[in-house]
Parts: sequence; structure tokens; C-alpha cells
Amino acid sequence: MKENKKNNKPEFNKMGFTQWQWRVLNHNNLKLGENTQVGSYTVIDANKGVEIEDEVKIGFSCVIISYSSIDDKGGKVILKKNCKIGSGAIIMPGITVGENAVVGANSFVNKDVPPNEVWVGTPAKFMKRLDSI
Ligand SMILES: CC(C)(COP(=O)(O)OP(=O)(O)OC[C@H]1O[C@@H](n2cnc3c(N)ncnc32)[C@H](O)[C@@H]1OP(=O)(O)O)[C@@H](O)C(=O)NCCC(=O)NCCS
Repeated sequence: MKENKKNNKPEFNKMGFTQWQWRVLNHNNLKLGENTQVGSYTVIDANKGVEIEDEVKIGFSCVIISYSSIDDKGGKVILKKNCKIGSGAIIMPGITVGENAVVGANSFVNKDVPPNEVWVGTPAKFMKRLDSI
């Protein structure tokens, strides 16, 4: 994973790839906080807006979409401060992952994840509460 130390958006090539091989479609609609980490082969579609707050960690090969043409779902995705998204997770349009929450590897997230909780699976379900992380 590669850190984005300051509130400086990485550069995107014309296919939307960063130099670390994560990709953003419609990157003008991406808001990226400080000290974030995004794993390679993650794809973010910011069509309807994606906000990634400070300290968020995203694993390898995740899919974070604010618009899905397959089922015509759209809505802003918000990843709140210090949440963690395990590798291979899919975050659907309109979803908010709460502060400090953890999404397990390979999960399909189609419901909001409350703060300080771990959710896993397909579809993702509550696994446990975190008092602090
Ligand atoms: C979700 C996670 C944080 C939970 O870790 P943990 O609290 O140590 O949980 P455990 O390993 O003790 O697992 C507890 C139970 O949940 C299950 N489980 C754990 N992670 C799961 C996942 N991603 N999907 C489905 N079930 C999962 C375990 O199989 C176990 O089930 P059991 O009680 O029936 O045996 C961790 O498993 C995970 O997915 N981490 C993400 C890793 C990653 O992608 N890192 C990014 C690259 S750096």
C-alpha cells in the first residue's frame, strides 16, 4: 500500500491510474483526506462522489463504486476517518463506512457500516464491536 501523506491528490494518468497502480474513474469527484493508504489494483469510481477521510486504509484489489451501471445504483460513498477496508472488498454506491470501522477482506458491502464495528462477508454483516482500534 502507498501512503498519501499530505492532502495532495496523487496524479492520475489518462486512464485514471496512479503511479501505485490504483485507479480512479471520474477523479474530479474524489475527495481524499490526509495520511490515507490505497492498495494497488483497487478501482474507485467517483462518478457520484467518493469521500475518503483522513487515516483511511484500503487494501489491495478493492472496488469502491459510487455508480453501478449493472443495477443502476448511484450515490456518494463516504469512508469515514480511520476506517479500514480489507483487500478484495466491494463497496456499493451510497454506502458510508463509519469512523474506525473495519470491513473484512473479500466482503460485499451493501449496507452502511456503523462506526467502531467490524463487518465481514457477502453480503457484509456485523461481526463484532471495537471499543477502540
Ligand atoms: C475482518 C478481520 C479484521 C477480522 O480479524 P480478527 O478479529 O482477527 O478475526 P478472526 O481471524 O479471529 O476471525 C473471527 C471469525 O470471523 C471469520 N472471518 C474473519 N475474517 C473474515 C472475512 N474477511 N470474511 C468472512 N469471515 C471472516 C473467521 O473465519 C472466524 O470465523 P470462525 O469464528 O467461524 O472461525 C480480518 O479477518 C480481515 O479480513 N482483515 C483484513 C486483511 C486485509 O485485507 N488486509 C489488507 C492488506 S494489508
